[in-house]
Amino acid sequence: MDAINNNDAVDEVNSFFESAPLLKDANSINAKLTQFINQKSSLSGSEGPKRVVCVTSGGTTVPLEQRCVRYIDNFSSGHRGATSCEYFLKSGYSVIFLYRRGTCQPYCRSLPDDPLLECFELTDDSCIKVHESHSEAVKKAISGHHAAVSGGFLLKLPFTTIFEYLQMLRLIATSMKTLGPSAMFYLAAAVSDFYVPWESMAVHKIQSASGPLDMRLAQVPKMLSVLRNQWAPSAFCVSFKLETDTEILLEKAGNALKRYKMHAVVANELSTRKEVVILVTNSEKVSVYRENDHSDVESPLIKLLIEKHTSYIAVIKE
Ligand code: PMT
Repeated sequence: MDAINNNDAVDEVNSFFESAPLLKDANSINAKLTQFINQKSSLSGSEGPKRVVCVTSGGTTVPLEQRCVRYIDNFSSGHRGATSCEYFLKSGYSVIFLYRRGTCQPYCRSLPDDPLLECFELTDDSCIKVHESHSEAVKKAISGHHAAVSGGFLLKLPFTTIFEYLQMLRLIATSMKTLGPSAMFYLAAAVSDFYVPWESMAVHKIQSASGPLDMRLAQVPKMLSVLRNQWAPSAFCVSFKLETDTEILLEKAGNALKRYKMHAVVANELSTRKEVVILVTNSEKVSVYRENDHSDVESPLIKLLIEKHTSYIAVIKE
């Protein structure tokens, strides 16, 4: 029975990819990934290749038209992903940051919404200088980002649609397979559950004069099983569970852990997500709180996950 279900899931995944519009820039993304990952594989230490985490961040969109004017969006500011990326880098991980265009970026969290216009000013002799009140935040953003990118520790890859996100996740995962258990997936992106298949999508802008719109959305296949079973079977996988109803949150997180054979699921409730998360594993459920109003819940969360990743690598090596 399980084998039949598994085959059905694989068929759904295959047909999603076969019918998806081709990923633009696939060759250049692949080249960047190969270079980034080869460099980590060649730097093997006593535990194996250098550790690399793929952090996904932000929400995917679902286009309603092929020449897209309208789309359905998924809520996510990208704050969780960007913050987590910084803590992974600080702990010595290299990060592939798969993020939604326009969402929060690592090292830029303390900048205002329109950093170019709000952080800089013109001097009397028409030079540009940093506004005094933002100078610390700008220095932190530039130095953190520069050190991570030029040091070869951070690779940033943007997506917008569900089609781009899933094709890029597959490229990243199959490239990271060579890293074995040193690879980690931290899937904080808010991924669309429903979509309009490309072949049944209107080509041009849907006309409002045609009256109310009836639309049937197909289910996006969950990619977690294929990620675990095929794309990167030895990687340490952390998925997220977001609910607005706390009553069902832990049950759903537990189900995801078992069904998709995740190593950990981070359960969070929408309104308290910046204060507390619950880390669900096979052996325990741990509430992780931020230390105070000015600290990040991602700090203790990433610390805990890295401990679990270390134990995982040690067990695999035995
Ligand atoms: O970005 P912020 O504003 O800081 O908010 C952070 C967050 C709340 C978005 C983040 O902490 C979070 O919970 N992200 C996951 C949201 C989500 O999509 O949850 P879900 O219950 O719908 O999906 C659970 C898991 O299944 C996710 O890890 C997702 O990668 C995966 N999934 C989902 C849908 C799908 N079709 N395929 C998938 O593989």
